[in-house]
Parts: sequence; C-alpha cells; structure tokens
Amino acid sequence: MPIITFIPDNRPISVVHGTTILQASRLAGVVIDAPCNGAGHCGKCAVRIPPDDLGKLIIHAPHHLSVEKEEAGIVLACHAEIHGDLIVSVPQREERDLQIVTGGVSHTIERNPFISKRYDPATDETIVLGGSTVLTREPGNSASENFGVVVDIGTTTLAAGLIDLASGVEIVSRSALNPQTVYGQDVLSRIRFAADDGGLETLRSSLISEINRLIGEASTEAGIGSGSIYEVIFSGNSCMLHLATGVDPAPLGRLPFNPAIRGGNHLSASSCGLEIAPHGLVWLPPVISAYVGADITAGILAGELHKLSGVTLFIDIGTNGEMILARDGRLSATATAAGPAFEGMNISYGMRAAAGAIEEVSFSPLSDLSLKTIGGGAAKGICGSGLMDLTAELVRTGVIGQSGRFTDPSAGNLPDALASRVQKINGKTLLTLTDVLSFTQTDVRQVQLAKGAIRAGIDLLLQANSTTAEEIDRVYIAGSFGFHLREESLLTLGLLPAEVAGKVTFLGNTAKSGGEMMLLNHTLRSELLELVDSVKVVELAANPAFDRAFMEAMKF
Ligand code: FES
Repeated sequence: MPIITFIPDNRPISVVHGTTILQASRLAGVVIDAPCNGAGHCGKCAVRIPPDDLGKLIIHAPHHLSVEKEEAGIVLACHAEIHGDLIVSVPQREERDLQIVTGGVSHTIERNPFISKRYDPATDETIVLGGSTVLTREPGNSASENFGVVVDIGTTTLAAGLIDLASGVEIVSRSALNPQTVYGQDVLSRIRFAADDGGLETLRSSLISEINRLIGEASTEAGIGSGSIYEVIFSGNSCMLHLATGVDPAPLGRLPFNPAIRGGNHLSASSCGLEIAPHGLVWLPPVISAYVGADITAGILAGELHKLSGVTLFIDIGTNGEMILARDGRLSATATAAGPAFEGMNISYGMRAAAGAIEEVSFSPLSDLSLKTIGGGAAKGICGSGLMDLTAELVRTGVIGQSGRFTDPSAGNLPDALASRVQKINGKTLLTLTDVLSFTQTDVRQVQLAKGAIRAGIDLLLQANSTTAEEIDRVYIAGSFGFHLREESLLTLGLLPAEVAGKVTFLGNTAKSGGEMMLLNHTLRSELLELVDSVKVVELAANPAFDRAFMEAMKF
C-alpha cells in the first residue's frame, strides 16, 4: 500500500491505491481546507507534491489550476488519487490571523440571569439554582463565582464571550475559525457531510472540542475555574445548532425544510460534551425556521427590532443572507443562499479575512487602484469585503458592465490605469490586481450570484409585506462579514436598493450580543419564544417568483 507523508506535520499513513489525498489527510488527522467537501468547485484544497512524483497520481478534473501550477506540483487534494509513495506539503491555514468581529450592538437590560447562587451559612454551602430548581450544592461560600458563556456558532467563525453573571460584564472574549469549515464551507455541504458515515459525529465533536478550547482559554485568562461556568448559550443558525447538539440536520436540506430542533430549551452541558460545571446547562435560543436561526433571534433582541416604529430591514450577510423586515413591531423573515463568495471562496485568489487579505479597494484616476490589506503587508488574496469594493469600483468606472461582463478596453472609454489592467490570457478575460493576483470574469460571476441572491431575497420580502424600498426607514447590517462592508459599495453593486442610501447602520456581531442579553436576563427568553412564534416566514425555496427576481437582481 502506498505511504503518504504529510508535511509540515510529518505524519505518514498507508492507504489503498485510489484513495484521494483529501481522504488520506482525514485518515491521518491532517487538516486540509475543503470548503466544497471534495466536489471540485472551490479550488481551496490545493497541496504541493514534488513535480517528479506527479506520475504517482491520477488527477481528475483539475479545472481550477493553471498549467503552471500543475507543473509546479500543485494539485487539488480532493481530485488526486494516490498510486505510489508521496510526500505532500499542506499549506498553512489562515485561522491564526482571522479577523473576527466579537462585539455587537446591545441594550441595557435588567440583570436577571437564569443561574443564581445563594450561600447558606447554616450548612456552610452554596446553593446553585437554575430558575427555581436547585442544580447543586457546593461546599463553602462560592456565591460570587457565577459565570456564563455565549458562543456565536457561525458557519465560518466562532466567537465566545465569558460573562460574569454577578456584574453582567464580559470579562474575556475569544474567537476562532469553525473547525467544520474543513468539511464544507456552507450549510448545505455540512448537511451533506453529516449524512456520510460518522460525518455528524465528526462535525459535532470537532466543533465541541473547539468550543471547549475557547472556554478553557477564556477561563484561564480570566483566572477562574471552568467549574464556575454554569450556563452556555449557543447562538447560531439552525444548522449549527443541530450540529452542535448532534442532531441530524438532514430535514433542513429537504422539503418542507422543517428544523428537527426549534430551540427555546435547556440541555445538560455534559451531554453536549462541554467542559463546564458538572451540573451546567446549555440553552438553545428559539429558531424561526430552517434557515432563519437562533443567530437572527438574537439579532432581533440586540437590535430591538420588535420595538421599533416604522420599517426596519435587518440583514445578516454571509454564506446565507438571513433577513427580517420589521414594520411597527410585526416581523417577517426570510433567508437566501448567497454561496461562499463573500467568504472569499470560489474566487480565484479569494481568502478569508486574515492577514494579507485585500479588505478595501478604491480607485481614483490619479492614484490608480488602491488596495488595503489586513495587517498592511503584501497582498496574498482578497476577502469578501475587498471583493465587494473591487467589484463596486469596476462597476462604477464602467470596467464591468450591467451584465457583469468586462468591457473591451480597446473601446477607449475606460480610465487608462484600469484599461491597462484588463487582459486576455489563455482566452480568459481578467483584471490584474498585483504581479500575482488577478480577478477573473468567473469571479465577477460569483459575486453576481451572491449579491443577486441577497437582493432577490430583499425584493421578495418587501413584496410579501406590500412594502416598497422607499418606505424603509433604516437598514441594519449584522454579522462579522457585514461589519467590514461599505454602504457605498453595497449600493453601487445593487445589493441594497438605492432608496436606502444614508440609512444603513452596521451593528456588528448581534448573534453574540443578543445571546449575552439572553444570558443576563432569562425573562427575555420567554418573551422571545412568543415573539418567534409570531414571525411570518417567507419561504423562497419553493417560490416561483424567486428565479425571476434572482435573474433581475444579478445585474449591476
Ligand atoms: S476543490 Fe477540493 S475541496 Fe473544493
């Protein structure tokens, strides 16, 4: 059997002939990013082998890589079958430098946590109560040591906050890449992965161990024992709640799209695998539908959407665009699959928002294209916000037309600095960004698909509520990705209707800040349960008008 050695981990493993490099890496416990879970779409599972060893592989569908890359020994791990001993170099992942928004808008609330502690001098014990139920008794007086954690379980990132329930203050926050991204970038690929043998448990356990790591690090930094943490709120989309609790998410992927869990209940933390107090609890906030989850429920609370007068459009932009239309307290929700382009996936030089990613782009005829990277160093790729800015600048300057096609630079109507960047290489039109980075026609198409899906969702949500774009009083953009976007780019791209110019506010991570509010005041939870029941859900999956709206919304 061929022996594969993965470096830099230096982990050898024997595999049968025909195993793909991606399968071998999973057997060896080596992490290779595979956002499309081996479907061959994302091009992000590239690894390097010595060029002389290429003959030991059978490579299928290498459409993502240039001839130069293949000659240099770069192959897609998911489409390279092993037929001989190999040394495989795995690129370093980006998560160490990821830029994750952990703070979000919230409101002052009365502190009334579900967990309370009372010292009884008669027995020299501290009684730990969950609501009015005694959870446990601890020896001595530990009444002042009462902590809770909120975890925003995003499809791409995790953000955890350790909260002192006695003071209501967040003491430490920690964030990380969701380790499940290795098995699939978006919700649908996770659902597919969960259906494989052992897939659900792999997703659950990888997520829970990462949450335990974040909680452990936060406790150490705060100088507290994790045994003083009694409650954890899991704030995440419906699929993430299923995966975190080991519930099969398959119903989310098929008609009639009913979530198997609705939230609004407690689970024991130990049954979830969490390393907190032995009698600790996990609370799942209520979900609205299969694709409008607890993160949006938390967003409603953080933005107080149900209390605002007038019309508010709340959008969480990510691989899914989840949105709420609030009109004088009446809420309506929908969600649309934007795909992974906003996470920098399916884009030739796309990357997550980590050091070296181009995050801002602007153009002026005097200074050419200006590219700002995270961390200020050399550009390694482009992340979602940079992608939006870049596309918006190209639309604004006419380099990309309304249909999304690059304009012929020889027509003479483009700014010189940009015209010279538009080139045709091997029959493909692209725009050079730096010596090594470019933006292709296919990339423009990916941006169009993503923005088209979100805009179509907005249009149909407005329509379903007989509301026009002019009537919108305010737009709230939530989420880590949204926080880095510029209103101008969203308007130029047409992701938002032109009528909302000047009305956009970025709220940050409301999944986490809303979760903190639930942690600190448990009476809010029962209010939320009622509220969620009253939300009107506008289903787009089976809506015949969606395709038409989507085609229209793809135009710039
Ligand atoms: S192309 Fe290999 S995992 Fe996506």
